[in-house]
Amino acid sequence: MSLDAPQGHIGFTLNGSEITVPADPTARLSEVLRESAGARDVKVGCNAGDCGACTVLLDGAPVCACMIAAGQAQGCEIETQAGLVAGDRDAERLAQSFQRHQAAQCGICTPGMMVSAVALLRSGEDLTEESVSDALGGVLCRCTGYRKIIAAVLDASTAAPLAEGGVGAPIARLDGWQKVNGSERFGDDVAPADALTVQVIRSPFHRASFSFGDLETFREENALELILTSADIPGENRFGVIPGFEDQPVFAEGETRFKGEAVAAVVGTPEALAGMEPFPVAWEELASVLTPEGADTAVLLHGDRADNVMCRGYVARGNAAEAMSKAAHVVSGEFSTGFIEHGYIEPEAASARRVGDRIEVQCCTQAPFMNRDGIAGIMGLALEQVRILPTATGGGFGSKLDLTAQPYVALAAWVLNRPVRIAYTRTESIATSTKRHPSQVHMEVGADAEGRISAVRFDGVFNTGAYASWGPTVANRVPIHASGPYKTPNYEAKSAGIHTNTAPAGAFRGFGVPQSAVAQEQLYDLLAEKLGMDRLDFRRLNCLGNGDPTVTGQVFEAGMGIDACFDALKPHWDKALAEAETFNASNKARKRGVGIAAGWYGCGNTSISNPSTIRAGITPEGTLCLHQGAVDIGQGANTVITQIFAEALGVPVGQITILGPDTDITPDAGKTSASRQTYISGNAARLCGAALRAKILRQGNVSEAATITLEDGGITLSDAGTKVRVLLEPSEGYAIEAVESYDPPTTPLDENGQGDPYAVFGTAAQICELEVDMALGTVKLLRIVAAHDVGRAINPLLVEGQIEGGVAQGIGLALMEEFLPGRTENLHDYLIPTIGDVPPIESLIIESGDAHGPYGAKGLGEHCLIPTAPAVLNAIAHATGARVHHLPATPDTVRVAILASGKGA
Ligand code: FES
Repeated sequence: MSLDAPQGHIGFTLNGSEITVPADPTARLSEVLRESAGARDVKVGCNAGDCGACTVLLDGAPVCACMIAAGQAQGCEIETQAGLVAGDRDAERLAQSFQRHQAAQCGICTPGMMVSAVALLRSGEDLTEESVSDALGGVLCRCTGYRKIIAAVLDASTAAPLAEGGVGAPIARLDGWQKVNGSERFGDDVAPADALTVQVIRSPFHRASFSFGDLETFREENALELILTSADIPGENRFGVIPGFEDQPVFAEGETRFKGEAVAAVVGTPEALAGMEPFPVAWEELASVLTPEGADTAVLLHGDRADNVMCRGYVARGNAAEAMSKAAHVVSGEFSTGFIEHGYIEPEAASARRVGDRIEVQCCTQAPFMNRDGIAGIMGLALEQVRILPTATGGGFGSKLDLTAQPYVALAAWVLNRPVRIAYTRTESIATSTKRHPSQVHMEVGADAEGRISAVRFDGVFNTGAYASWGPTVANRVPIHASGPYKTPNYEAKSAGIHTNTAPAGAFRGFGVPQSAVAQEQLYDLLAEKLGMDRLDFRRLNCLGNGDPTVTGQVFEAGMGIDACFDALKPHWDKALAEAETFNASNKARKRGVGIAAGWYGCGNTSISNPSTIRAGITPEGTLCLHQGAVDIGQGANTVITQIFAEALGVPVGQITILGPDTDITPDAGKTSASRQTYISGNAARLCGAALRAKILRQGNVSEAATITLEDGGITLSDAGTKVRVLLEPSEGYAIEAVESYDPPTTPLDENGQGDPYAVFGTAAQICELEVDMALGTVKLLRIVAAHDVGRAINPLLVEGQIEGGVAQGIGLALMEEFLPGRTENLHDYLIPTIGDVPPIESLIIESGDAHGPYGAKGLGEHCLIPTAPAVLNAIAHATGARVHHLPATPDTVRVAILASGKGA
């Protein structure tokens, strides 16, 4: 190709085509590929070479395109995921293997993973787990736990067919092919080319007062189109997710309450923003509080309250104090965890455009209808004037439930009547997004002489940050779950969410339950030790069974499957203990340990209505459409909901066209949160499929046993050897349609937290095997075995994917992750597990059935990581004799614990 590009241009070969594009030679190659060459399959996760999502082949070598100056690519050959899959037979087979193994969940890391894998395949190096891990080691994934990615690469040369079937079949993701061929579009991939850019001005201090200079003069002198502040909010400058706790402003007024809080936004062309002078704002740093200990009333975050207590939670049953005093054995302890960052690879991104008197927002989100309601309130619009069109979401894990970038683009597009876009930087994302709540827990457990738990007392304080977000949910949910899935006749659990000058803590996979499990499951190990009992046997003795009341007095007559989880683990447990003993007998410097822990989680909202609605219809031309509004953030809702619907209707999955999510065309399927979609939206899909089936059969006047076949632009019914053609009347809408809703049957809790907070609980238990270097405190994980009662596995491969991804996040919680406000705002200071940090994971799927779940299925997403961290900590204690009370168990922390225990040299 020509190496001569005109001034201000770069010429290169992109996926086999010679192109010349306008580009600053010092610009990032990733930016030039995306914005000038249209290669939106190149994803930007960090702009620092940390995440690897932007990996491309540059003259055959994998590089992070964000770390290459565009000028360096002059005359080079560049290959990206989309080009490779379209033009390289091996890459296409790799894509098929990714589909077969469900190696892409959200799919945002998939371009980087696959491009790196193609380089390995082309190298001719032997394919082993080690060589794959080395080749893909520079690419981060937050969803999958890496194991399915490794399996997909190792299996890349196989040409096995995809699985088929309905409920229970491990079919490929229905939205999977676009993730592996590079055509998936995420939050920053969909804005029109002429969209203006929004940039947010944020507080550099944990707490500060501020005043603006002459904003209009600044706007004119910097060729900006618009400046927005709190004065420009037409509706309420407040948003939130829990009724009564809508306390977060879009733009702070007079005082900021956390580092990174927005005070203004500027809107302009990328060129204008790049050359902009410093924004005219004067800051005065104020005293701040960053932890609950300092957050009495010295700094009052919200002046309308007497203190910084956001809210409290409470559950009591029996008489815990009296039972504790009579217990034969008592253990107690203090445990704490820090802020945990969600670490999704896709930073928050959104675009918006005004359409007449309506505003349309495209964004990565977990909660389109909640987003719609929030935007309407902020903009002073009717709900019907706001349309939310979710893009693919590159990981969420709870944080993309809240409004983030959406209000800025909506306001700007509304005022300017021009499309606008925003994509958070990695620093902006980590500094401002919600976090897992730091926790400080005091807990006490008593047992009788036979090892039966007689009493539990729990007191948890949670740092909820500057604003409420999902803090009330955490405060309410934790006391219900702090017993774990065990019989606990006497119980008292208190929780409190305390405001501090930190980023808001919100929803993160488990809503506080993983933190309480860290305390509870470690104490159960200590109690078993005191009793001289095997740790698994102690748990098996005490675990809830059918008919046993929970700590809220709820009784499940069927489907409480934690006993089956322990039973499934038992042979693995015995083998692992024996192997560790053998190893330790001949090793002093390194010690092996085996840990076990359990967890449970109630699916859906706590004691309040949270319905889902699913609609489906058949067009006059015979197309079957499913309006599926349950947002798929990688967990598999598009596939699971469709499998359930197809089963109820009685047609193959492949005959269904999925529409949505889109608040204009899909009914509200609620938020993707609290492990509710499989259970709640799945039930709505089951009811919808059954209702549509009944209508079709009625129309054909056939029996309920008839089979439905969509063929030749219509419906054929086969009933006892006869065939009936259903007449589809011409219509503007559907010829036949059904809409059904499902809302879990729960009851309110009384003043002691007694009642039926959830219709469905999922349970799990996991074993961790690891090795500790006694001198260094380093921990090497060897294996995880995870037994999960999912009621019924609608798609077993998706179940495994959720388990492996959750375990990986639990490993991060246990061993390496802690967000320090103002300090760990990138992916090289904030570490998440890499491909080398996640050991082999064996999933044991338990199907105990459930009275309420669709075909017996329960939710799963939150459950997967709850047992992991305490299982790791219990394994460390088993290996070393030292117990870690504050997470993460980094090598220095483990080493200090070893020395304190007197076991270290
Ligand atoms: Fe890897 Fe989501 S699938 S980050």
